[in-house]
Amino acid sequence: MNVHADDFARFEHAGWERVADKYDSVWSSLTRQFISYLINAAGVSASMSVLDVACGPGYVSAAVKQLGAIPTGIDFSEKMIAIAKQMSPDIAFFQGNAQDLPFANSSFDRVLINFGLLHVSQPEQACAEACRVLRSRGRFAFTVWAGPEESPGAKVVNDAIQAHAKMNVGLPEGPPRYLYGEKEECRKVLEQAGFDGSSMTYETRTVEWHLPSMRYLFEAERDAGVRTAGLLARQSPETLEVIRGAIENGIRRYAKGNEFVVPMTAHVVVVSK
Ligand SMILES: C[S@@+](CC[C@H](N)C(=O)[O-])C[C@H]1O[C@@H](n2cnc3c(N)ncnc32)[C@H](O)[C@@H]1O
Repeated sequence: MNVHADDFARFEHAGWERVADKYDSVWSSLTRQFISYLINAAGVSASMSVLDVACGPGYVSAAVKQLGAIPTGIDFSEKMIAIAKQMSPDIAFFQGNAQDLPFANSSFDRVLINFGLLHVSQPEQACAEACRVLRSRGRFAFTVWAGPEESPGAKVVNDAIQAHAKMNVGLPEGPPRYLYGEKEECRKVLEQAGFDGSSMTYETRTVEWHLPSMRYLFEAERDAGVRTAGLLARQSPETLEVIRGAIENGIRRYAKGNEFVVPMTAHVVVVSK
């Protein structure tokens, strides 16, 4: 498996290895909320074989197993795979690359990716691989974050960064942060990857992310993220303080009792082979 094929892949791989042990406590309260949308939209049912790509700690695999389906999880981070195996010892997890899946053609009934596509250097290649390993009429389903114009939580971080961060800091070029945020563009990519574009469904879902403090979001991005963390790590201490203040200011308006309840939006996309 070549996870070091390009600068962005090297950057992402090193990043996920670094933050793997923080992911569950920091981000899972957000990403897990989309799993039922993903699984329902994909029409997963008992005894289906389901590949969970970029599985992280394996939440999608675990949810699929509860339905009586047969999950296999794959992630390029050795540490994520170790965590997944520890959390769900009865599920098969493998280290592997979304862009070069180690499975034969037509092996699965469903391929699911919960918030993984924007992390691979060539998402269209990951879509083509999903298509290759799916059986005929099998379904590919994934989630991608909606952009700041649709997602209040994304807007808080985006506004702070756009207003204050130095952007030209030598980060490797990756796919757009809000990949496939436009339905017809998404359909085109999926058709080119080999899917039946006319079968595509594209839903936009918003969940409430309950944050215990005003600092939580900034600290999550700085300490447990990968791409934004890379940008933040390359700012001066003064700029970082300004960004922290701006994010906290943005969060303030979502105060509810002792916590902050921030709406976060994503697109849930399903397409058939
Ligand atoms: C945001 S996490 C999503 C984890 C999980 N799917 C969830 O629902 O929370 C992104 C995951 O993608 C994995 N990843 C990134 N690039 C990958 C690649 N090229 N191949 C396989 N996994 C990759 C990372 O290691 C990380 O575990």
